[in-house]
This record gives sequence, C-alpha cells and structure tokens, in this order.
Amino acid sequence: MVSSLTNAYEVDFYSSTDAAIPALRGSVTPGLIVMDYNLMVRHSREFMKIKLQEEELQEIPILVTGTVDHDEFIHTVRMVCRVHYLQRPFLQSQLREAAAHLVSAPIEDRWKKLPARQKEALQQTAINFRAIEKKVRKGLGLNMEDTRESCTPLMEEVLDGNGAALMENVKGHHNHTYVHSVKVATLMTMLAKAIGIKGHELLTVTAAGMLMDVGKIATPQDVLNSPDNLDKDQMIEMKKHVYHTHDILEQSDGVTEGIKVVAEQHHEKLDGSGYPFGLKGKDLNELARFAAISDIFCALTDKRPYKPAYSFNQAIKVLEKMEDQIDPFLLALFKEIVLLAYADQSSVH
Ligand SMILES: [Fe+2]
Ligand SMILES: [Fe+2]
Repeated sequence: MVSSLTNAYEVDFYSSTDAAIPALRGSVTPGLIVMDYNLMVRHSREFMKIKLQEEELQEIPILVTGTVDHDEFIHTVRMVCRVHYLQRPFLQSQLREAAAHLVSAPIEDRWKKLPARQKEALQQTAINFRAIEKKVRKGLGLNMEDTRESCTPLMEEVLDGNGAALMENVKGHHNHTYVHSVKVATLMTMLAKAIGIKGHELLTVTAAGMLMDVGKIATPQDVLNSPDNLDKDQMIEMKKHVYHTHDILEQSDGVTEGIKVVAEQHHEKLDGSGYPFGLKGKDLNELARFAAISDIFCALTDKRPYKPAYSFNQAIKVLEKMEDQIDPFLLALFKEIVLLAYADQSSVH
C-alpha cells in the first residue's frame, strides 16, 4: 500500500499511532493520514485527541482501510473530520484516487467561496489535471479538447485582469506540479494578451502553459520533492521531464505546434546553456521564450522544501541577471505586466 502511494506522494510509515504523533507535531503538516480500522479503533485515542485539538490538524483528512463494512463508525468520524473508508480488497488505483481526492479536498473546498468564474477556472483545471495524471500513469494519450475546455475560464479570468488572484488562490494546493502549471499558464496568458494574441491562439498559449510540465508526473517523488538542492543524478532525472512530456504529447491527438514547441523548448536559453538541445538565439521559439520567463519566475517565487519563496523583487533581480539567457524585450514586458497585476501586493508567492 505504501509503495503505491510513494509514486505520487512523500509517504512516512509508522507501525503505531504513538510513533506517528511526532509527525503531527512536526513543522510540515501532513496532507493525509492513512490508517487501518483496527489501529484506529483500538490504539489511536491519544493520536486523535491531538489531531482534533488544533484547527490545522483537524483539517487533515483520514483514509481508513479495513476488511469489513464499518459504515456507522465512519459516519461518526465524519462528524469531526474528513474521512473515507476503503474496504479490502481494493485496487491500487482506487487507493490513489481516494488519496488524491482527500488530500486536495480542504483547499478545493475554499475555492467554492470564490467568484463563479475564478472557482470554475481552478476547479476545471484541477479536474483536468487529475484526468491527465491518470492517463499518464496508464500510458495513455491526453484529450486535448478537455484541456482546452478546462483552460477557457482561466484564460477569460486573465482577460478580465484576474490573473494575480488566480495565482494567489491556487497556491496551497498539495499538487505542486498542478499549482506550478496553473501559475505558468496564467503568466504566459498575461504575456500573450499583452502582445496582442487573441482567441483560439491565446487559448493555445494557456494550454501550452498547463501542459509543458506534465512529464513531471513521471518524475520520481524523491526528486520532485527533494528537501535539498538536487545532486547530479537527481538533476539528470529532473531534466528528463522534457522527454516525458514529449512522449506524452506524441501519444495524444490534436496537439498543436505551439503546445509542442513550448514543451520542448521551455528550458532552453538564448546563450545555448539550456536543455535538452542547447538551442541558441533565433532558434528559440517566441512562445517558448514566454514560457521560459514565466517558468523561472514561478520556480523562484514558489516555496519549495529546499528553498523559501522569493519575493517579486528578488525574482525579478535574478531574471535581470540572466540577460544573456532570456529575451530582454519579453522580460521588460513581463516586469510591467506582473507589476501591474500585483500593484496592490508587495510580494508574489
Ligand atoms: Fe519544465
Ligand atoms: Fe516548470
């Protein structure tokens, strides 16, 4: 059971609830507790007492596994916290689905209170991203129409000047690749809008931002969520996401050239120091240049296990130092747009 979750999550295993108590009190709040029914009923009194004491711990959902039906018990637990019961035998995919649903539930609940289209933009992209993850794990191609459709409210929110709010509201979702993709898609759409890209083509830019890192679904979790800077081997593994994305898109119908080129070139740099091909100058597609700036900005302003979130100004300073590597015209435009979008905020996280 642990191994089927480690592909998607960082999992700590405890042989008793007593042993798990320090994890509840640790600096990183768990996104989910998976517990056996027998353990929960017989030995978890102290553990549950601590869990229900604080609001933040109360929010942690519980996935209970067991051999027979325990409807009544689960109903009682549901009164105090979010819980789901999985009766054995269950498929690994059922376990992963239940876990994904529970882990994302608290933040997605908060989205329900947002204005209608902001809520739609986040809900539809989250649903689509889960569908993408499922297909990638099964080795299936993606449905481009679904992705374009799910990106439409996001694009419309950007057109109405609500991009900054979108990026603010998506943060805190447990799925970092999803959060990163929404932020990159939002920034790329802002940039594309500013240079006059419209309609169908603008939606392609949004979809390209959403899809360019889907290959990370195949990247091992210990690399994705490494608490330290990546070592040489981990870096090689991380860089492979470009190839993974390429393979996923190759298997999918209706992928436009724009989406493909962004996925292939978003880590390339003007001076040839990027990857995977070390392309230089004019060989770099313009959409991919948008993607590179948006991607670096997001990576810097994200809080990660190995680094704090950079402020808006810190991130811009880093980008300015990369003058030989990223498009200076687009960077100037990017600064203007993001500054305007965040006019009422002092930092971007
Ligand atoms: Fe990437
Ligand atoms: Fe990225």
